[in-house]
Amino acid sequence: MRQVPAFSDPDSRTSISPETDPARWGHSLANAIEIVLPILDAAEPKQVAEVGAYAGDLTSRLIEWSQKNGVGITAIDPMPAPLLEELDEKEERLNLIRKPSHEALAEMEIPDAMVIDGDHNYYTVAGECRIVGERVKAEDRPLPLMIFHDVGWPHARRDTHYDPDAIPAEHRQELVEGGALFPGEPSVIDAGLPYRWPALMEGGPKNGVLTAIEDFVESTDNVKFALISVFFGVGIVWDSRAPYAEKLEAMTAPFDRNPVLERMEANRIYHLSMHYVKLVEVEEQRARADRLQAFLEELSKSRAFATADRVVSRGDSERSWRRQIRSLIDGE
Ligand SMILES: C[S@@+](CC[C@H](N)C(=O)[O-])C[C@H]1O[C@@H](n2cnc3c(N)ncnc32)[C@H](O)[C@@H]1O
Repeated sequence: MRQVPAFSDPDSRTSISPETDPARWGHSLANAIEIVLPILDAAEPKQVAEVGAYAGDLTSRLIEWSQKNGVGITAIDPMPAPLLEELDEKEERLNLIRKPSHEALAEMEIPDAMVIDGDHNYYTVAGECRIVGERVKAEDRPLPLMIFHDVGWPHARRDTHYDPDAIPAEHRQELVEGGALFPGEPSVIDAGLPYRWPALMEGGPKNGVLTAIEDFVESTDNVKFALISVFFGVGIVWDSRAPYAEKLEAMTAPFDRNPVLERMEANRIYHLSMHYVKLVEVEEQRARADRLQAFLEELSKSRAFATADRVVSRGDSERSWRRQIRSLIDGE
């Protein structure tokens, strides 16, 4: 496997400003904040939980929004990034639960709206949906509004993991550490968008976030599902008997599986992945150039070369091989 150079690595984040840096991938759901907040406004929740909050990019926007309506914000993340820890220290409104989603959702009060954006694999997302569904059913409550991130490529039909050991082996696809993905390519390839632990193959049963949501929607009565193809895909699931159900239907209908948005997202992910392919090519060319330079440096130090150079140049420094090699290496 070739080494994929790091570009816009989410771990290198130093600020909570996802929208302002176009060089980044657009990982955070905060990039779709103008979609997320009106949907939350329509549902008028009292509590919102964000499953998978990472560096708090979306969390900070939710907190900002909650200032005006008094909504309580919970973030669930077993590995919160330092920026999220900082946010937790300074924001009284935020309740940070440092646990994996299945454990947290089994214990906490299920809120009336949720963002699901944690570990992007079938087992985890299916489990999150199942636990929430069972808990509200036992309490005779409607399903909360659920906003999912990463329902599009590459996670739609392919599991990825933060930590494969966190879930039982029998629920894991065959994985490739540090595999690169390219849209339309079902296997893992040697250049493309890099992921920590992607499944070797895309597609098939029980593989991917969208597959998990579809299975849940199919097996649950009275649920609606809209899919908006922006920034890796936003999925919205709601109870069709909820008081805000019709409003949500009207709001999401123009965007739901909208072919123009789908085409724009396909175009975006193609060029994003191609950027990585080009980075790999540049790295390879640089490595070849370094090897060639080292060889030429050695060659021009040899006696045999010096003798040949004298014969060829016949005292004319312009014709000297050595001088020409030096000039090529120094770029003069
Ligand atoms: C894509 S990031 C979340 C981004 C964030 N929602 C945003 O929009 O800015 C995914 C996060 O999920 C967390 N995570 C991984 N496994 C998880 C699990 N089982 N339960 C909850 N969070 C998990 C990771 O630690 C990571 O911080």
